Amino acid sequence: MNERGKFGSKLGIVLATAGSAVGLGNIWRFPYMTGQNGGAAFLLLYIGCILLLGVPGMISEFIVGRHGQANAATAYDKLSGGRPWKLVGYLGILTSTIILGFYAVVAGWCCEYLFASLAGRTLGDADYINNYFATFSTNLWRPMLWGVAFIVLTHLVVIRGIRNGIERASKWLMPILFILLLVLVVASCSLPNAMEGVRFLLMPDFSKIDSSTVFEALGQAFFSLSLGTACLCTYASYFSHDTNLLKSASQIALVDTMIAILAGLMIFPAAFSAGVRPDSGPELIFLTLPNVFQQVFGGVPVVAYIVSIMFYALLVFAALTSTISMHEIGTAFFTEELKLPRKKSAWIITTVASVLCVLCAWSVGAFDGLQLFGIPLMGFCDQLTANFMLPLGGMLACLFVGWYIPRQTVWAEFTNDGTKNVPFHRIFLFAVRYLCPICILIIFLHQLGIL
Ligand code: TRP
Repeated sequence: MNERGKFGSKLGIVLATAGSAVGLGNIWRFPYMTGQNGGAAFLLLYIGCILLLGVPGMISEFIVGRHGQANAATAYDKLSGGRPWKLVGYLGILTSTIILGFYAVVAGWCCEYLFASLAGRTLGDADYINNYFATFSTNLWRPMLWGVAFIVLTHLVVIRGIRNGIERASKWLMPILFILLLVLVVASCSLPNAMEGVRFLLMPDFSKIDSSTVFEALGQAFFSLSLGTACLCTYASYFSHDTNLLKSASQIALVDTMIAILAGLMIFPAAFSAGVRPDSGPELIFLTLPNVFQQVFGGVPVVAYIVSIMFYALLVFAALTSTISMHEIGTAFFTEELKLPRKKSAWIITTVASVLCVLCAWSVGAFDGLQLFGIPLMGFCDQLTANFMLPLGGMLACLFVGWYIPRQTVWAEFTNDGTKNVPFHRIFLFAVRYLCPICILIIFLHQLGIL
């Protein structure tokens, strides 16, 4: 293993990549986007985007990263001999820092709910739960302090190089999260009126699909896979030579999608049962989950107490493995490219992301006038990155691998120098040369009203 980034083991790196993918994108963003876009039809489009565009995109980033053996910008630079492809790396670094800013706000909300659960303050009737969120999120200090604290926590993990420990912990904690999700799905589905929620998620109503649904599904797919910021590229630069790229990408995509679907099955039945509107937006999970804990487990308060603490703790952990990956992209870049000490590089990212985090937290709370183009800053950053910057980054990665770097290199990375008999090589080439770029372009042009 080389010195860069000090990941300790092969297993650790693949786990880290999975840890980056699984996070609030699955448990917070997926349910709220699905709720706003009409349910099952959105889910189908989302799965289509993952399979057709997401997996080839992931493999493309893996190829650039593992072949380039460097941070995002340098990897593109090396592989293209200094042509403007480097800008793709810069775009990725910018995108991931913006994402870190608003993602930390939601991670901070999870921290608040973790501590409130510890203090036994999150249980109550539906009105109480609604009020709790409203009072907390409009507070001047608390949301912003939690968000910044979360970024600083990420910073400490990134500079201490204790990631190996985190990856090993995630080997245990992720399966526990999975099991707990299953338990909560069963609990949520046992609530009165729950089947309406299941129907909402699983029975498509195609009349609800329009061009913006496709656009949002694409953004959500890329966000959830951590695709389009060269994050996967940075992580793949730490992969070993015998990692099978197709297999890793497919496994991560599968686990990631399963967790999102489980999160949906946990949230929607509970939402319909408690009368929370599925299109409530970013606060959806914070309005519904406490109801599940209260109504299903409330008969035995100790169980309600323990289940809610466990759930928020695991959510915070899942968010941390994702924020580490966003932070790492910029930190690796400043360290290797500008030759700054690692700590200093990390501080640059921490500072920029923290300022953005404070503004985002305020824009959905204390200062709701903080808007850009009529959207609160937080939603603006969310939409700008997920819907535009990520698909653009992903599309460029595909074009780069499909058309620019020598086919021989692509083949060598795809099959590990011919040592592995990896199927779908031709399909992959077709996907990155034609399918992905054209689909993404069409979706973009349509959204902009040009097509
Ligand atoms: N995929 C993560 C999630 O689902 C979020 C994430 C981590 C991300 N790193 C990223 C999104 C890089 C885009 C780019 O929560």
